[in-house]
Amino acid sequence: MVAVAILAAGRGTRMKSDLPKVLHQLAGRSLVERVLDSLSQIPRSRRLIIVGYRGEQVQTALERYDNLEFVEQKDQLGTGHAIQQLLPHLEGFEGDLLVLNGDVPLLRPETIQMLLSTHKEQGNAATILTAQVPDPKGYGRVFCDSKHQLKQIVEDRDCTAAQKQNRRINGGVYCFHWPDLAKVLPSLKSENDQGEFYLTDAVNYLHPVRVVQVEDYQEILGINDRKQLAKAYQILQMRVKDAWMSAGVTLIDPDSITIDDTVQLESDAIVEPQTHLRGNTLIKSGSHIGPGTTIEDSEIGENVRVMYSVVSHSQVKAGSRIGPYAHLRGEAQIGESCRIGNFVEVKKSKIGDRTNVAHLSYLGDTTTGDRVNVGAGTITANYDGVQKHQTHIGSGTKTGSNSVLVAPVSIGENVTIAAGSTITNDVPDHSLAIARSRQTVKPDWQLKPKAD
Ligand code: UD1
Ligand code: MG
Repeated sequence: MVAVAILAAGRGTRMKSDLPKVLHQLAGRSLVERVLDSLSQIPRSRRLIIVGYRGEQVQTALERYDNLEFVEQKDQLGTGHAIQQLLPHLEGFEGDLLVLNGDVPLLRPETIQMLLSTHKEQGNAATILTAQVPDPKGYGRVFCDSKHQLKQIVEDRDCTAAQKQNRRINGGVYCFHWPDLAKVLPSLKSENDQGEFYLTDAVNYLHPVRVVQVEDYQEILGINDRKQLAKAYQILQMRVKDAWMSAGVTLIDPDSITIDDTVQLESDAIVEPQTHLRGNTLIKSGSHIGPGTTIEDSEIGENVRVMYSVVSHSQVKAGSRIGPYAHLRGEAQIGESCRIGNFVEVKKSKIGDRTNVAHLSYLGDTTTGDRVNVGAGTITANYDGVQKHQTHIGSGTKTGSNSVLVAPVSIGENVTIAAGSTITNDVPDHSLAIARSRQTVKPDWQLKPKAD
């Protein structure tokens, strides 16, 4: 039996923020969500989240997870004190307790699995995840013998100058045989620089305690300040982008591209510089995205071209060309082989196949048929100041430049709208609608010169 505890009660003073540290976002998910998600290979078990500073906010942020048990640590007197709060909750529990700091978001599920299986195979009282890191500043230093038996963990601020030279750090991820840990928890003392009860001191009372080395030290980087948060983002991005390149996606100048780890790409997609793919986005095979494009929570079909554009909560079907400088938003659905061009905004509209909206238009709350040509500067006036209204444009229709379609209005099929028209009434199929004043020309007319 395994139970899991996540330490999430601290404020995270070094973040200099009102938001609890574990709720800071890292590429679309909070630190504590990432820690929870890294448990995917651990068998379903009790999950205890220790909360304190703004505990309710942390609890609300984790609502989507089932069966979490929240344990309150009223005063945050250290990581050992946090685990002491579990004593009444785990009374009689005979299994192992996996403990994770809530600020270690880069762990791979296999690493946690490896820690747990080594702990069991070796029959340890405690097993600690560790690595040698280039810059150990701020971390607890781990001292062990050549057989991986742990001797001591000393916090950075309690280290002597000589101890600080040790680059082997404590990752804040541990496995304890709970009955052994439960016995020693009450003996923890707070005689250290911070005057806190350290979980790391518990290992002094346990035997045997062994360390497990994590191959990629970046996995156990802890987030204590904004610089470490930015560094973690970079590491995460490198992982995500490497994986997509291995899967057959071309990234041109990967350093300038960001891709959330929730995004899906198909092989032979090409992503150009300064492009950002966010949230629940799917880019299908052969599509060419960027440069200078942001796509969020959207689905882009096969062989679509998007450049210098913003697409959010929308869908583009195969073979369409978007941009430069287009904005699709609020459930815009673009059909196959369309062209949505320069300075065009499409909001909550369904555009049929082979339809062109090539220049300077706004389509909102609109449906169009197929093969429509929306002329330059055509605008749907969808808002009367109180409510939004629908516009429909039938298949084969052409709207002239600078026409205004005042919603609610329905334009039939194969209609021609004359340039500069303001259309307020429905237009039947196969007709020409002109709604503008006639041009008057006065021949031989000139301004009268001024008297002086
Ligand atoms: C801790 C370890 C250090 C290790 C590092 C790894 C201790 C004493 N030190 O230091 O050896 O190298 O993590 O990242 O454990 N928390 C509570 N209640 C508290 C205090 C903290 O729940 O009273 C939580 C925090 O919210 C955080 C986690 O415990 O998620 C770790 O606390 P933090 O202050 O970040 O410890 P570090 O100084 O990083
Ligand atoms: Mg920390």
